[in-house]
Amino acid sequence: MISEDLNRRLTEIGPGTPAGGLMRRYWHPIGAGVDLEREPVQPVCLLGEKLTLFKTASGEIGLAGERCAHRAISLAYGIPQENGLRCAYHGWTYSTDGRVVDMPFEPACLPLNVKAYPVQELGGLIWTYLGP
Ligand code: FES
Repeated sequence: MISEDLNRRLTEIGPGTPAGGLMRRYWHPIGAGVDLEREPVQPVCLLGEKLTLFKTASGEIGLAGERCAHRAISLAYGIPQENGLRCAYHGWTYSTDGRVVDMPFEPACLPLNVKAYPVQELGGLIWTYLGP
């Protein structure tokens, strides 16, 4: 029987954990292209991180943090735009690399961003890399 500490080291995969750090060195499938066509904004969870997968109106795919940087509403309620994902609450728009590219009524507050990860669509699957 392994110790509680070793069990934790081997099984916890969140950010900052040993196993999580190892797993973040690989690309992971996060969704299917056909599903993203049907539903262009999806909440997803990978390696203990809650994220938002989205496809913009111009066809770019992004993977951003779960919450808006403004008032922390879920970006899963976001609305795809040509230039990114618009938050449903006050309209801040995030590009696929997580930068705020539109901030209605508050343009002086730029730049801001949320966590974002690179994505690629290969073989009908959408892959992401959470590593350094
Ligand atoms: S909560 Fe997203 S723009 Fe205000």
